[in-house]
Amino acid sequence: MTDFKAFYIDQSDGKTNAGIKTISIDTLPSSEVLIKVHYSSVNYKDGMVSSPGNPMVKEYPIIPGIDLAGIVVHSKDDRFNEGDAVIATSYEIGVSHHGGYSEYASIPGEWVIPLPDELTLEEAMIYGTAGFTAALSIHKLEKNGLAPGEEPVLVTGATGGVGSMAVAMLAKRGYKVEASTGSIEHKDYLFELGAATVVSREEVYDGKLRALSKQRWVAAVDPVGGEPLASLLSQLHYNGAAAVSGLTAGTDVPTQVYPFILRGINLLGVDSVYCPMETRKEVWNRLAGDLKISDSFDRIKEVISLEQVPETLTKILEGKTRGRTIVKLG
Ligand SMILES: NC(=O)c1ccc[n+]([C@@H]2O[C@H](COP(=O)([O-])OP(=O)(O)OC[C@H]3O[C@@H](n4cnc5c(N)ncnc54)[C@H](OP(=O)(O)O)[C@@H]3O)[C@@H](O)[C@H]2O)c1
Repeated sequence: MTDFKAFYIDQSDGKTNAGIKTISIDTLPSSEVLIKVHYSSVNYKDGMVSSPGNPMVKEYPIIPGIDLAGIVVHSKDDRFNEGDAVIATSYEIGVSHHGGYSEYASIPGEWVIPLPDELTLEEAMIYGTAGFTAALSIHKLEKNGLAPGEEPVLVTGATGGVGSMAVAMLAKRGYKVEASTGSIEHKDYLFELGAATVVSREEVYDGKLRALSKQRWVAAVDPVGGEPLASLLSQLHYNGAAAVSGLTAGTDVPTQVYPFILRGINLLGVDSVYCPMETRKEVWNRLAGDLKISDSFDRIKEVISLEQVPETLTKILEGKTRGRTIVKLG
């Protein structure tokens, strides 16, 4: 096999060196499934992993990219054959196991899932971990009793990857969506995705935390966390629920016990990384089925090359991306 290109991060003498590099196949781990990567994507976590010395990276070198979709070239795992279209996201991929910013990836069989028939490789990466996380959030809220109705569901960080996906998926399912954003100049984008109303971040959290406030939303998809999460918990309807996946506004959530004991609020944790395989397949099937947002793919996606990955990783950490950026390889 010929050499190939990857975004490669190494460290020597305490200095981090990152760039597009030509590497040989021996650089990859000898896992069960060798995949020719067609698409990857850019997530907030990829930005964090690629920051020099990020504590998530235990060992260098690392090829980041927590998402990849491609075609199996060779498999030592009976479940996969040469020519199969597959997806691999999360687990250790792109953090402690070479990931998707690479023309080839070698991935353990238990981390790989077959591409659902109703999706293309490109569509799978328009979703990527962000779309999967939005869908898993909705899946958990619905298992907790949420159903489409007249009362609004809040989506925070709405112009981001998880947020954009959640807005479009909830709207497709028939929910009335209130999108909250710090980028109000993109409100038309959010209306086009299906938001019924668009509000500023400050309308969710005005800088003052209250034990309980007026009941505004039956549920929330929250990839933002921090103080805005504490604020939205105090504004959920009786028996409401928030599905929490992210930390762009911080890790400390200074809530009080009142929303839980006086309004029966449910706080649902959402983890895409070690989500059990059974649920993972169920959610991917929903992404290919009732949650498929075909009409929104073109609005949400921006396609870049491997060479554009480093600058895009910087931008996502600065909050300067919108929707989903996918990486076309080969
Ligand atoms: N739990 C999991 O398994 C899982 C999976 C995927 C992602 N995540 C996490 O979810 C979060 C979002 O990921 P992503 O890939 O969607 O990132 P993203 O595309 O960068 O979106 C994040 C959005 O959050 C909002 N935001 C940024 N800084 C903020 C701040 N200081 N205060 C309030 N809002 C802020 C912005 O939206 P607006 O400008 O519209 O407000 C931004 O677009 C990240 O924390 C990520 O690590 C977790």
